[in-house]
Amino acid sequence: MKLDTRTPFIGSWALQALIILTIFFGSLNSFAQGDAEAGEALFKNNCASCHHPLKRQTGPALKGAVQRWADAGESENLYRWVKNAGALISSGESARAKELESYDPSAMTPQAVNDQEIDNIFAYVEAFTEPEKVAGDDGCPTPYLIEEKESSGKWKWLLAIAIILAVVIFGLAGVNRRLKETSDDFQTDDDHTYMEITKDWLWRNKVWVSLFGVVVLLIALSDLGWRAAQIDVVEGYEPSQPIKFSHIVHACKHEIDCKYCHSSVEKSKSAGIPSVNICMNCHRSIQEGTYFKGEEIGKIHSAAGYSVDDNAYYDSLSTGPIAWNKVHNLPDHVYFNHSQHVKVGGIDCIQCHGDVQTYNGGKVASVEEINKLEGTTKLTKPVLTMGWCIECHNVTGVNVLGAEKDSYYDEIHKRLKNNPELLKKFKGEDGTITVKELGGWECAKCHY
Ligand code: HEC
Ligand code: HEC
Ligand code: HEC
Ligand code: HEC
Ligand code: HEC
Ligand code: HEC
Repeated sequence: MKLDTRTPFIGSWALQALIILTIFFGSLNSFAQGDAEAGEALFKNNCASCHHPLKRQTGPALKGAVQRWADAGESENLYRWVKNAGALISSGESARAKELESYDPSAMTPQAVNDQEIDNIFAYVEAFTEPEKVAGDDGCPTPYLIEEKESSGKWKWLLAIAIILAVVIFGLAGVNRRLKETSDDFQTDDDHTYMEITKDWLWRNKVWVSLFGVVVLLIALSDLGWRAAQIDVVEGYEPSQPIKFSHIVHACKHEIDCKYCHSSVEKSKSAGIPSVNICMNCHRSIQEGTYFKGEEIGKIHSAAGYSVDDNAYYDSLSTGPIAWNKVHNLPDHVYFNHSQHVKVGGIDCIQCHGDVQTYNGGKVASVEEINKLEGTTKLTKPVLTMGWCIECHNVTGVNVLGAEKDSYYDEIHKRLKNNPELLKKFKGEDGTITVKELGGWECAKCHY
C-alpha cells in the first residue's frame, strides 16, 4: 500500500494552530498557570470539608468563582478573600465580599494558603469534571438491575398443569368424536342418551380413564404436601420499600460498615433500622445519585424537612419518619437477640442474612444461598424457622473455656473449671460444647 506523505504535513499544521489557539485562550485565564495536580491535594485538605467544585454544600460551588470575581472587577481580591474572608468584608473595600457575607448558614474561615497555592486550587477546580462511574469495575453487582426471579422448580408445576390440560383437551376431543360417531351410528336409536353414550365410552376406555384419574390425584396430593411444607417459610421475601435504598451502593460500592447504620446490632436485642438523621449525615451534601438523580434522595430530604435551596431544616416541610417495610419478622412469642449472636457468639451477618452487600433492599436469604458463601456453617432448614435455630444450636460450638471474652459465661466457666466430671459430661464426642448443650434447645430460652 502506498503511503500518503501529505498527512503528517497537514497534521503538523493543525497541531501548530491548536497550540497557538491554546496559548491565546489560555492566557485569558490567569489561573491556567496553576498546577491542577498539586491543587487537588490542597483542595481536598483545605476546602473540601465545605466546598464541592460543582455542588452547593456548606459553601457555594467553586467552579466559576474565578470568573465571578473577574466579572466584579475584583480578581485580586479573590486571594484576599480566601486568605481571610472576614477581614476583606470588614475592610469595606470589596463589594463582592459584602455580597457573599449574606450566604448562610456559616461563614468562611481564614485559610492558610499562599497565592501560588490558590492558583493551583482554582486550576484544579476549573478543570474538575464528575468522574465517570464505570459499572462493575469495583467487584460490586450493578445496583437496581432487575434480577430474573429464580422460579425454583415452579416450571415443573407449570409443565405438569400443561400436560394435564393437553390430556383433558385430547380426551374431550376423543369423547366428542366418539359422540359424533355414535350419534351418527344410532341416529334412530332414541334409547341411548348422551349420558349413556359417555358412560359407554368411559367404560370401554377404563384403563386410560383410571390411569388419568390416578395421575391427577397424585399431582394434587404432592402439591398439597409441597404447599404444607412452605407454611411459615419466608425465604426470599423482599418487600418493596418507600425509598429505593440499595445495600449494593452503600455497603459494597461505598464500603459503609453495616454497623454505621444498624448501630445497635452489637449492643442490644435488635439491629435497628437507621433513622432519617443518619441518612442526612451524608445526604445533606450528596443530593444527587447516579441512578435516580435527585428523585430518591429528595424523598429523604422531604422526610427530614430539609430544603436544598436554603440548606436548612423546617419542621413544616417534614413528611415524618420513613416507613420502611419490615423484612425479617419472627412471631411475637419468639425471643431473638442480636448482641448474643454477633458479639458474644461472634457470628457474622452473612451466616443469617446472606451477602447483604449484593442486595438492593433487605431480603430474607435462602439457606441454599447462604450455604454457597465461603466460611458459613452449612444448614438445611429454611431460614427463620424454628428448625433453623435448633439445627444451628446443635452444630455450633461455644468457646466457653476460651479467653474471658465476655462476662456472660463467667459463672459457667467457674463451675466447669472446678468440676472436671461435669466438663466431661458437657463436652460432646468431638470435644466441643455446642449451644444445645448449654441450653440452646430449651423452649424457654427462645419462647416467652
Ligand atoms: C469552614 C468552611 C469553609 C472552608 C474550609 C472553606 N470555605 Fe470557602 N466559603 C465558605 C462559605 C460558607 C462561603 C460563603 C461565604 C460566607 O458565608 O462566608 C465560602 C465562599 C468561598 C468563595 C466565594 C465563592 C464565590 O462564588 O465567589 C470562595 C472563592 C471560596 N470560599 C474559596 C475557598 C477555598 C479556596 C478554600 C480552601 C482553601 C475554602 N474556600 C475553604 C466556607 C468555607
Ligand atoms: C444468628 C443469626 C443472625 C445473625 C448472625 C445476624 N442476624 Fe440480623 N436478624 C436475625 C433474625 C432472626 C432477625 C429477625 C428478628 C426479629 O424479627 O425479631 C434479624 C433481623 C435483623 C434486622 C431487622 C431489624 C431488627 O433488628 O429486627 C437487621 C437490620 C439485621 N438483622 C441486621 C443484622 C446485621 C447488620 C448483622 C451483623 C452485624 C446481623 N443482623 C446478624 C438473625 C441474625
Ligand atoms: C455514610 C454516608 C451515607 C449514608 C449514611 C447514607 N448514604 Fe445514601 N448514598 C451515599 C453515597 C456515597 C451514595 C452514592 C451517590 C452517587 O451515586 O453518586 C448514596 C446513594 C444513595 C441513593 C441512590 C440514589 C441514586 O439516584 O443513585 C439512595 C436512594 C440513598 N443513598 C438513600 C439513603 C438512605 C435512605 C439512607 C439512610 C438510611 C442513606 N442513603 C444513608 C452515602 C450515604
Ligand atoms: C447506609 C445505611 C446502611 C448500611 C451501611 C447497611 N444497611 Fe442494612 N438496611 C438499611 C436500611 C435503610 C434498611 C431498610 C430498608 C430495606 O429493608 O431495604 C436496611 C435493611 C437491612 C436488613 C433487613 C431489615 C429487616 O427489616 O428485616 C438487613 C438484614 C440488613 N439491612 C443488613 C445489613 C448488613 C448485613 C449490612 C452490611 C453488609 C448492612 N445492612 C448495611 C441501611 C443500611
Ligand atoms: C448460625 C447459627 C445460629 C442460628 C441460626 C441461631 N443461633 Fe442462637 N445461638 C447461636 C450461638 C453460637 C449461640 C451462643 C452464643 C454465645 O452465647 O456464645 C446462640 C445462643 C442463643 C440463645 C442463648 C442460649 C442460652 O443458652 O442462653 C438464644 C435464646 C438463641 N440463640 C436464640 C436463637 C433463635 C430464636 C434463633 C432463630 C431465630 C437462633 N438463635 C438462631 C447460634 C445460632
Ligand atoms: C433456638 C430457639 C428455639 C427453641 C429452643 C425452641 N423454639 Fe419453638 N420456635 C422458634 C422459632 C424461631 C419459632 C417461629 C418459627 C416460625 O415462625 O416459622 C418457633 C415456633 C414455635 C411454635 C409455634 C409454631 C407456629 O406455627 O407458630 C411452637 C408451638 C413452638 N415453637 C414450640 C416449642 C417448644 C415446645 C420448644 C421446646 C421443646 C421450642 N419451641 C423450642 C424457636 C425456638
